[in-house]
Amino acid sequence: MAKGLNYINGEWVAGDQFTENINPSDLSDVIGRYARATKEQTVCAITAAQSAAADWGHASAQLRAELLDKVGTEILKRRTELGRLLSREEGKPLADAIGEVERAGWIFKFFSGEALRTPGEKLPAIRSNTEVDIVREPLGPIGIITPWNFPIAIPAWKVAPALAFGNTVVLKSADLVPASANELAKIIHQVGFPQGVFNLVNGQGSVVGETILADERIQAVSFTGSVGVGRHVAATMVGRMAKVQLEMGGKNPLVVLNDADLDNAVDTAVQGAFYQTGQRCTASSRIIVQEGILPRFVAAFKEKTKSLVVGHALEPQTQIGPVASEAQLLQNEKYIQVGIDEGATLLCGGERLTKNTAGYFFSPAIFADCHNSMRICQEEIFGPIVSLIPVKTYEEALDIANDTRFGLSAGICTTSLKHAAHFKQHSKAGMVMVNCPTAGVDFHAPFGGRQASSYGPREQGRYAVEFYTTVKTTYTKYK
Ligand code: UN1
Repeated sequence: MAKGLNYINGEWVAGDQFTENINPSDLSDVIGRYARATKEQTVCAITAAQSAAADWGHASAQLRAELLDKVGTEILKRRTELGRLLSREEGKPLADAIGEVERAGWIFKFFSGEALRTPGEKLPAIRSNTEVDIVREPLGPIGIITPWNFPIAIPAWKVAPALAFGNTVVLKSADLVPASANELAKIIHQVGFPQGVFNLVNGQGSVVGETILADERIQAVSFTGSVGVGRHVAATMVGRMAKVQLEMGGKNPLVVLNDADLDNAVDTAVQGAFYQTGQRCTASSRIIVQEGILPRFVAAFKEKTKSLVVGHALEPQTQIGPVASEAQLLQNEKYIQVGIDEGATLLCGGERLTKNTAGYFFSPAIFADCHNSMRICQEEIFGPIVSLIPVKTYEEALDIANDTRFGLSAGICTTSLKHAAHFKQHSKAGMVMVNCPTAGVDFHAPFGGRQASSYGPREQGRYAVEFYTTVKTTYTKYK
């Protein structure tokens, strides 16, 4: 059985507790025991990140680029093995897990290049013989808190830009899925980052997370998780006037218009709603369908949903893996009851499934006849449960799509250029998809939303520089 340690100041250290990492596809498969960091160890990790910050902040861009590139190469080289581990700990099907590992590898490669391309600007000065330069500098030690649904990609898309732009890192990985982040830490160690530049502390939010938030030496925190915790993270960080970036929930709409290509609309809906067991903040959870296509869409969508193979994440035919934990399973069951009580029609799914192994298997569920005001259309479920909302017109569909406290991703299936263009302009989400799923984004494009979905500067792509650097303006009189 694997034993995972915390990685603090270049050393591997045990804690006084551990978390047992269990495969949600097979509860008898214990992946390993992973040390939880204590409060004191978390403080040590922050001290290490603080001590390393000055040298790393001034290290050459070439060195930073080289080390990040090596991390990317190693992740890609080990994609199958790391994908298998990820699939075992989180429960997404092996192909998706390998895809996530590849995404992490490419993110490190992308930010390796960004280390060399850190932008700056020169302005003509108001005074003669003077120049104004605007440069970007690292912030110092950064706290990174990641969720369980993307055990390697989300750590990668926060850690890679943090390191690329010269910051040091204290990463708190999700207690439910510590193995992938642990492997990432081993790779970062192996390629030779200077001691203290990167630190991993696994454990609970109440101990490790709170210690990171409270420590004045942590200059910024990037967090992905629930709205409730996000609000607390923001309040704490703003309270001590430190930088904060949050990625939280979604209640993402997919609009299907009468003129949509039916096959593509059904594929887009199935992928967006159910792939990765609906456990993505970008998942489509409200499908808003125009009445002219409604009967055909419902029939085809239901048929395709019922044909999805739910099973052990490592079995090659599996399309939908288990739910990640018992808590999520109970949450899904609760929302099935909420939907029924609210008067929605359960077309299919919503049940625990028995397979060869004891795991958290749950059949993808479709609710029909929904109103957007129902709780199942307003609250994030984070599972394979989708609501169908019938509408008469495009205008009504757009209004309903925007009628949410979230605003992460929104999609439309249509062959009308006019409606596609109008939707791109008038959707209130941070990411808009035409004829493609609301979930599953590119690694090099900015990621984020509005309202309760996100807070602070965007993640990923060239836009990541905004959060992970601070601007300095210099004036030089040269004559
Ligand atoms: C994706 O849809 O490819 O936690 C990424 C989440 C998001 C990532 C989604 N931050 O689900």
